[in-house]
Amino acid sequence: MLTLNPKELESRVFYSYLTGTVAPRPIAFASTIDSAGNVNLSPFSFFNIMGINPPLLVFAPNNRGRDGSKKDTTLNLAEVPEVAINMVDYAMVQQMSLSSVEYPKGVNEFIKSGFTPEPSLLIKPPRVKESPAQFECKVIETKAIGTMNLYICEIIMAHFSEDIIGQNGKIDQRKTDWVARMGADWYARISESAMFEVEKPNTKIGIGYDAIPASIRLSKILTGNHLGQLGNIEALPTQEEIIEFGKNRKMQDIFEQATNGCAFLDNLLHDEASRLLAQNQVKEAWLVLLQNPSLTTN
Ligand SMILES: Cc1cc2nc3c(=O)[nH]c(=O)nc-3n(C[C@H](O)[C@H](O)[C@H](O)COP(=O)(O)O)c2cc1C
Repeated sequence: MLTLNPKELESRVFYSYLTGTVAPRPIAFASTIDSAGNVNLSPFSFFNIMGINPPLLVFAPNNRGRDGSKKDTTLNLAEVPEVAINMVDYAMVQQMSLSSVEYPKGVNEFIKSGFTPEPSLLIKPPRVKESPAQFECKVIETKAIGTMNLYICEIIMAHFSEDIIGQNGKIDQRKTDWVARMGADWYARISESAMFEVEKPNTKIGIGYDAIPASIRLSKILTGNHLGQLGNIEALPTQEEIIEFGKNRKMQDIFEQATNGCAFLDNLLHDEASRLLAQNQVKEAWLVLLQNPSLTTN
């Protein structure tokens, strides 16, 4: 373990450890405006959703590392505390990166990076037309901490492209192609191939890791993820179900291999359970694991 005390390091050094580990971070593509009507567009990955009632987004521009001056976004928000926060997908990533160049104040990064300004309904800064999700926000609180300004923004209007909406009228996560910031120059592309589902545990009360028999918990084959799935079952199969399941062909094959000394019964059962867990067949995996006669339920 590399153990670091941030107080003993220059902040830019600790920054590299933080941004490489608190990752990937979504990107707030923030459009702001000054009181003279000059528009600014810049990306910020110190950003996230922080509330739903009211809906809140929080992001934090740092002062410039070079000379400690405030970024244009910070200056604009001091004059007009409204921001259009646009989400960034893969099709936008290179232009978004181009917009982060430190152009002088007053330069409109919509023009510099080639994005299309779309008038907002309730705030002055325009939205980014190309972005599949756009939030019109009012800054409700600003907190200056060290070299940062933390902006707490209430969403007062939201716009979502039909391209990411499924048949039920909600966001279809498989249709999105978000990008997120990691450490150094790395980004993550979060398209369907990078996604997977984990069944919500809070709809039921799982038996828990501690209720899993030790021989399963200490398995050399089953991983922490497998044990997490197994602990999420509400109740173990009954003795009758286990006996019935043991009659199936696959189980008979396993018993035969174990009897012939081809492999240990536990190893064969754990291999089969891990295959089932990969398909999220948790009850079946338990039915396999409990075929070991030394493990009985109820
Ligand atoms: C993907 C990405 C994320 C960024 N995140 C931040 C951030 O969270 N805070 C920050 O101060 N600068 C961040 N930057 C750098 C700013 O975008 C950059 O300093 C920009 O020039 C600020 O523009 P402004 O002076 O027009 O506000 C990020 C840049 C990129 C490309």
